[in-house]
Amino acid sequence: MLVVNPAYKAITEAWFDPARWGDRAQPVSAGGRGSAWFVGTDQGDMVLRHYRRGGLVARVSERNYVYTGWRNTRSYREFQLLRELHDQGLPVPEPVAACANRRWMWYHAAILIRRIPGAVPFPEVGNLHDEALWAKVGKTIRRFHNAGLDHVDLNCDNILLKGGDVYLIDLDRCRLRGESGGSRWEKGNLDRLWRSVEKRIRPVTERQTPILWDCLLAGYYRPLESIGAS
Ligand SMILES: Nc1ncnc2c1ncn2[C@@H]1O[C@H](COP(=O)(O)OP(=O)(O)O)[C@@H](O)[C@H]1O
Ligand SMILES: [Mg+2]
Repeated sequence: MLVVNPAYKAITEAWFDPARWGDRAQPVSAGGRGSAWFVGTDQGDMVLRHYRRGGLVARVSERNYVYTGWRNTRSYREFQLLRELHDQGLPVPEPVAACANRRWMWYHAAILIRRIPGAVPFPEVGNLHDEALWAKVGKTIRRFHNAGLDHVDLNCDNILLKGGDVYLIDLDRCRLRGESGGSRWEKGNLDRLWRSVEKRIRPVTERQTPILWDCLLAGYYRPLESIGAS
């Protein structure tokens, strides 16, 4: 089972096998779980990701998920969600293709997305003490929340920065909610991010961390129109 963005040509299931790419596939070292590769293709630089369980379950079932239909697979759902948000002009990478392989009652899944060249995970930017940067991150999260995106894994490594631009990635298991604006799921996203900031960023910014976090919240809560929507 395969879905391909019509902007890309001749993509087959073989594209999801990192071995096929030889030296042109490099494992992503920063910020991931070790199942992602940067791939240089003749249609641009991409990120290939295999869906894999984290934690204890990973040792038992690794790549296996219970199959209940192609449209319910993790890869198909993430592909469609990325497509929808990307079409709305929200800063997510463009999805290229998604696949799933059924094996009896299980499936394996993978996705190809466009690489954002030069982007680095939030904890790795050089200007972590820049208050304006934190406000921009907050403002970007707010734009996604206004669009209804419940990002169930909103951690620092799933926020990429390139120059002053902020992107959200890793939309596995995320969904669009009907209601936004002070909903419990929005608070849940921010709580999750704060825990990640404490773990990943506080060691660098130390006592300034709560101040920087307040800048993020200020950017998040400020009305979008007063600082421009982009
Ligand atoms: N579109 C992209 N452009 C550039 N880097 C990316 C992109 N997608 C992922 N990465 C890098 O790969 C890492 C892991 O990707 P991610 O989608 O978060 O998977 P996971 O966390 O499940 O391993 C990210 O933290 C980031 O460093
Ligand atoms: Mg991630």
